Amino acid sequence: MNIAKALIFGGSALAISVLAGCKAGGENQGLEYAPQMYHSVAYEPLTQIKDESQGSWLSTREDGKGEFYNSNGYNPHGMNMREPVANTVPRNKQGYLPYRLKAFELEQAALIENPIESSEEVLKAGEALYLQYCNACHGKGGQGDGKAGEVIGGVANLTGGAYVNLPEGHIFHVITKGKGRMGAHGSQIPEESRWKIVHYVKQVIQGQTAAAPAATADSTMVAQATPAN
Ligand code: HEC
Repeated sequence: MNIAKALIFGGSALAISVLAGCKAGGENQGLEYAPQMYHSVAYEPLTQIKDESQGSWLSTREDGKGEFYNSNGYNPHGMNMREPVANTVPRNKQGYLPYRLKAFELEQAALIENPIESSEEVLKAGEALYLQYCNACHGKGGQGDGKAGEVIGGVANLTGGAYVNLPEGHIFHVITKGKGRMGAHGSQIPEESRWKIVHYVKQVIQGQTAAAPAATADSTMVAQATPAN
């Protein structure tokens, strides 16, 4: 009886210590079961394993390199991602260059022309966007009588006073960066949609005819008026 107990005790202690030996800790990454499941061999843009022998013990690769090697020897730093061409600036998905004006740089912003040409379609899209993003405060007609506007107070009446003469770039800037009691909407509304809202505000809410389309309806116009700092 005692011998059986001792065997069970001794056996369990042995099993526990053997299993504990697999545990990861400190520098020891532990024993991995099915390591392919932990180590992604996918190409990652920035991180990479440059040591060609990494994972060679389980490699099935035809090029004879280790299973975990995932660098690109042709690119700088062995990265899989290519570096941007020197002295270039990436455009966003809509083809726009970065908008670099700071919130207080309203005067420069006012010089920027609307890069998209107005059309019935644009105005329709602008209306939908206006109702979605501006109506709550500025109200359907832009008179500053939206439901949320009643609570916030001090909402600009876009149909009155000096607001009627605001340049398009100014309105775009206010939507993007906010002003005074109005918050910035730049992160919520894509650039092109913001310009559509501007068309809608100018032409429908303020009842003005469309400004002549920018000489080249291209976002580089925005870049020229945008100091690079
Ligand atoms: C949360 C409420 C709110 C929302 C949403 C909102 N606004 Fe405003 N807006 C204000 C307030 C408040 C002011 C007055 C800001 C001030 O002068 O302090 C203002 C001012 C303005 C001005 C005048 C800026 C100036 O130079 O004085 C414009 C133009 C404007 N908003 C356009 C828009 C457009 C377009 C949208 C939709 C994309 C919008 N706003 C969404 C609250 C809002």
